Amino acid sequence: MPVLGFIAKGLDVHIVAVDFLPDLLDVLRSRAARAGVADRIEAVNASMGALPIEPGSLDAIWSEGAIYNLGFENGVRQWRRLLKPGGILAVSELTWLTASRPAELEEHWHAQYAEVGTASSKLAVFERKG
Ligand SMILES: C[S@@+](CC[C@H](N)C(=O)[O-])C[C@H]1O[C@@H](n2cnc3c(N)ncnc32)[C@H](O)[C@@H]1O
Repeated sequence: MPVLGFIAKGLDVHIVAVDFLPDLLDVLRSRAARAGVADRIEAVNASMGALPIEPGSLDAIWSEGAIYNLGFENGVRQWRRLLKPGGILAVSELTWLTASRPAELEEHWHAQYAEVGTASSKLAVFERKG
């Protein structure tokens, strides 16, 4: 909860935190209560592919190491619809930092996650999806 806590304490915002594992949400609720920000964080048990959120209603979506569960391109497409015009989508994603790498490494990661790609290929998705 460090990032959520930082945002909740530093900004006057309402945060909807989503996970499909209820136990993790219980941990979040108790940490939020200890940090004094329980009133700003709503922990919602839902699938990230079927978020109970009105399209065009969010100022920002922040997702660390999780959009891959939807697939990067699919996730960008789905989550973009939930943002207000000018809203921000911030995600971290498994990304190659070089143009080439040993074939063995490439094959391994491609088998684990077919959308593994370079930063420029990820930016191209953002551009395509507006
Ligand atoms: C790799 S963890 C990342 C967690 C955290 N953001 C971090 O950086 O440590 C992925 C998280 O996504 C959740 N998750 C995976 N698939 C999901 C789905 N379809 N809907 C909602 N949550 C999901 C998992 O329960 C897990 O908490």
